[in-house]
Amino acid sequence: MTGFEQIYGMPPEAWADAPGRVNLLGEHTDYNDGFVLPVAIPQRTRVAMRRNGHAGFSLFAQGQGDPVHFDLGTPPQQHFATYIYGCLVLTRDRGVQVPGLNIHVESDVPMGVGLSSSAALEVAALRCLRQLLGLPFDDVLIAQLAQRAEVEYAGVNCGIMDQMASSLADTQRALLLDTRSLERRAVALPRDSAVLVVDSGVPRSLASSGYNQRRAECEEAARRLGVASLRDVDDVARLDGLPEVLLRRARHVITENARVLQAVAAAGPREFGRLMNESHASLRDDYEVSTPELDRLVALLQQQRGVYGARLTGAGFGGACVALCRPDALVQAGREAVRAYGVHGPRAAILVPAGA
Ligand code: GLA
Repeated sequence: MTGFEQIYGMPPEAWADAPGRVNLLGEHTDYNDGFVLPVAIPQRTRVAMRRNGHAGFSLFAQGQGDPVHFDLGTPPQQHFATYIYGCLVLTRDRGVQVPGLNIHVESDVPMGVGLSSSAALEVAALRCLRQLLGLPFDDVLIAQLAQRAEVEYAGVNCGIMDQMASSLADTQRALLLDTRSLERRAVALPRDSAVLVVDSGVPRSLASSGYNQRRAECEEAARRLGVASLRDVDDVARLDGLPEVLLRRARHVITENARVLQAVAAAGPREFGRLMNESHASLRDDYEVSTPELDRLVALLQQQRGVYGARLTGAGFGGACVALCRPDALVQAGREAVRAYGVHGPRAAILVPAGA
């Protein structure tokens, strides 16, 4: 029997899933109209639905306590439920008759570490609605609605990278995305390489206040430079004259955009890895979204045999790190970094490959 049947006593009518993502390069560039390079992770969120014959909604999410009941007139109190609520309201606002539903959610996407568990939830919910109601939503529209659900209903002022990655990326190839035009293409990982993701065990404190502050600083820098967004600047010499903090924020964005494009054109994994290392230094020194623990874990990863490069991934302020490694050295490198890190600090854990 499925989880849905156990809760609601009947099988679902539709189900869908969507993955989390890890960003390889292009951090804090998406809300500056820049370039990003995420790849899907194997962990996924699954959503199942069935019409319940009345106007209200019941939502059960594994690990989130009792079922939540709501209707589209009033947002639910429980934060996780607001992501689904937002998807339902935005679908209705497109003129779709959304019937009352029983909804079931289960997920193995790690939460709160920067691997986009919320985007996976939104995209899986919208895919499930598309399936149930036969909606003409393409994958880009699903990502756009998912991002709006997050901004307008869950109160997180994010860019569009996570939702585009969850909706369009796969685990084998990275998604090169221009977040201004939404032009994109699948890019093979460098030869002889694989992705390692390690959780630092440090919760992402300050993630939302720090994130919003960085956004505001970038907008202020763009305003002073007289451009629509920092995407429109590609020469750091143009930043001279900006106040010091704004100069460093803008320098991160400009150099990070360049790193994404260089990585895509890179000759091999070593150059790609070097760009990841540079990205971490820029996030640490110019963008100031790293923490001492992330710096230590990244340094340990960078020292391991078979690691081409490593950096924090996602918004920062805690959470996970990503490394590009030789496939045959991957698990050993991850275990050794986790062990050495744990001697003086919190418990780290390998998240990708799953079960390592
Ligand atoms: C979070 C946001 C994304 C992006 C990253 C930083 O994951 O949801 O839109 O801004 O931070 O690159």
